[in-house]
Amino acid sequence: MITIISGTNRKNAMTKVITDITCGMMKEKGIEYQLLDLRELPDGLFHKDVYWNAPPEFKPFQEMVLNCDGILIVTPEYNGSFPGVLKYFIDILKFPESLLEMPTAFIGVADGYFGALRSIEQLSMILQYRKAHLFGKKVMFPNVSKKLSEDKTQITDDKLRAMLEELVVDFNDFANRLKK
Ligand SMILES: Cc1cc2nc3c(=O)[nH]c(=O)nc-3n(C[C@H](O)[C@H](O)[C@H](O)COP(=O)(O)O)c2cc1C
Repeated sequence: MITIISGTNRKNAMTKVITDITCGMMKEKGIEYQLLDLRELPDGLFHKDVYWNAPPEFKPFQEMVLNCDGILIVTPEYNGSFPGVLKYFIDILKFPESLLEMPTAFIGVADGYFGALRSIEQLSMILQYRKAHLFGKKVMFPNVSKKLSEDKTQITDDKLRAMLEELVVDFNDFANRLKK
């Protein structure tokens, strides 16, 4: 089971569009997955007593991270990094068990030319600190709005679509090989 995280809570985020397309690919390939959408985080999570004391409404999100074989994070680039809400989410997760030895892969989404490579590199540092097993392949969507069909359901760039297909299949194999 792969948990795919849509890494921003911004309304109408392109990150969610790419997440949905990736979910469609996983379904097509028969890969089991569950979607963790940061837009669905409970408002009650955003208060000062939450550290090491997450409210019960957070439990389903925590469980999705604990009970999976791999985590695929789809991250946009915000101010040269990944979104603050994604770091906050990681900070609220149980330590150390949540990400320990967890196979983890990344997809980057950005308007800019670098396709959220900076977000992925910064996230990689944090996930390494948490002792996750990082998957070597990554896929980045630079100028994301130009890579999609008008209805935003298809990737029009053939090379990118092929890279994304390869990533989901190979990451699922990687996660299954490391399965505990
Ligand atoms: C707060 C904020 C900061 C952003 N900073 C960057 C940036 O540093 N580099 C970049 O290429 N795009 C930046 N963007 C544009 C996003 O890459 C763009 O919105 C893209 O669609 C992915 O983000 P989304 O999932 O929120 O749509 C920023 C967008 C927001 C909302």
